[in-house]
Amino acid sequence: MKKIVLFGSNGQVGWELQSSLPLLGNLAVCDRSKVDLSDFDAVSAYLEQERPDIIVNAAAYNAVDQAETSEEDAQRINHDLVKVLADYAAGKSAWLVHYSTDYVFDGASERPYAETDVTNPLNAYGRSKAQGEQAVVASGCNHLLLRTSWVYSARGRNFAKTILRLAETKTEFSVVDDQTGAPTSASLVADITTLCLYQVLNSSNPEALSGTYHAVASGHASWYEYARYLVSEAVGLGIPLSCTEHDIRAVSCSEYPTKAVRPKNSRLDNSKIQNAFNICIPDWKINIKRTLSDMVRQG
Ligand SMILES: NC(=O)c1ccc[n+]([C@@H]2O[C@H](COP(=O)([O-])OP(=O)(O)OC[C@H]3O[C@@H](n4cnc5c(N)ncnc54)[C@H](OP(=O)(O)O)[C@@H]3O)[C@@H](O)[C@H]2O)c1
Repeated sequence: MKKIVLFGSNGQVGWELQSSLPLLGNLAVCDRSKVDLSDFDAVSAYLEQERPDIIVNAAAYNAVDQAETSEEDAQRINHDLVKVLADYAAGKSAWLVHYSTDYVFDGASERPYAETDVTNPLNAYGRSKAQGEQAVVASGCNHLLLRTSWVYSARGRNFAKTILRLAETKTEFSVVDDQTGAPTSASLVADITTLCLYQVLNSSNPEALSGTYHAVASGHASWYEYARYLVSEAVGLGIPLSCTEHDIRAVSCSEYPTKAVRPKNSRLDNSKIQNAFNICIPDWKINIKRTLSDMVRQG
């Protein structure tokens, strides 16, 4: 039986992976209470102890605005740690599953980004994630480097929870309408990961599957369109709110300045992963209702 180690098991994606990865082998979950991932000696000792065939790294420094003033902290988790994991995987012929982001691109393109497009991050978080990607590829380890975007779940902090809270407490509010991407549920990312790994484990030529893929929901929306859809679904579910989707105003990102600049076009073309693994990735709207119900249940 394959041994799998999961880092970042308490995060949005990590939490969902805990349900599906045990289908593939013997899973060891690792959260901050077990290993502080900024302590690389402790990380190496943990890997030596567990001797995984597959490392799944769902841990990350994800505070995009904070990274502008704490770039070293972001680099340590999003690049230096990733290099430690990738070098270990390369040395032991293990597989590494690692996640990256739409923020490695500058968003200037008029079309959805392909895996082969040149990266050019606009902010410190994006730079640290792009360097993490480069460390994975340079190590020569077998890998699934999965870029995802706009992740939400009933757990953790995310845009969907923020919008639900605003709709519960405000009679109107504004949301940015000139940044476009694919809201992607953490459970979808986990399902895609497990389906892809299953095929790696059962392939006669698994190395051919090693590479970078865009693991995002199909379709796209602006933050404003996404917010309107969230609120209309919440109304449909009977969640008590102080406003409806008609009370949300569209604004441009210049009217909503943030420390970190974000790409205007965050759309990632997901056809490569669908074709390579023969999977069907649903539209971004598919998981929203279920996640909203989970959010309300969790309070
Ligand atoms: N969230 C998004 O919108 C988004 C968009 C694009 C790409 N991604 C990528 O997708 C992946 C999964 O994201 P996510 O949203 O699931 O992340 P998340 O919810 O922020 O979870 C990240 C996890 O990393 C852990 N972690 C960070 N530093 C650590 C340390 N020093 N020691 C131990 N654990 C540490 C955190 O532990 P604690 O819980 O203890 O803090 C947390 O559980 C990441 O690679 C992320 O960059 C995310």
